[in-house]
Amino acid sequence: MNNNNKSHKEKGGSGITRRGFLSRASQLGWASMMATFAGSLYGGYRFMVPNVLYEPPTVFKIGTLDEFGMGVDTRLVKERQIWVARNEKGLYVLVAICRHLGCTPNWFADQERFRCPCHGSIYDIFGNVRGGPAPRTLWRAAVSLDPVDKQIIVDTGTRQDPDPKGTAEGLFVEEAGREIEPYFIPV
Ligand code: FES
Repeated sequence: MNNNNKSHKEKGGSGITRRGFLSRASQLGWASMMATFAGSLYGGYRFMVPNVLYEPPTVFKIGTLDEFGMGVDTRLVKERQIWVARNEKGLYVLVAICRHLGCTPNWFADQERFRCPCHGSIYDIFGNVRGGPAPRTLWRAAVSLDPVDKQIIVDTGTRQDPDPKGTAEGLFVEEAGREIEPYFIPV
């Protein structure tokens, strides 16, 4: 009879022993302390390492003038998202971003056209729109020559974007108006 009473007292009404209850409470206490500690550590980390998005630089060198032949050079499309174009008067840099919704067009040397794979915009070597939904001509990036090493410096953050004229052939900008500093290097 006595044993039954003792057992009843230790277990309480719910069937959990007193020792078990204390042990569970202690575990919960530790877990909550650790969670608080981890939270404050993370907070400290976020404070020390702010949420910054690292963008590629918009000003960079691409080589000297003699490294680019006549026509369109596509070597820097993947790395820098530009085409380097050269004619008998000089050199300019087109930004390889379609003016419709931002896809990267491809250069077809045999047709002398850039064609966008997304919705079919077509541009000529000057960046004029020759077909498709693009509402403006291709951007040209600012270019200059480094006075020391003579390398071409491209600044894709500074872009030429004149208003084009609508014609039956497409959207055009007069070329003479585009071949000006800092968007053209005469040779
Ligand atoms: S993004 Fe180039 S045609 Fe639409």
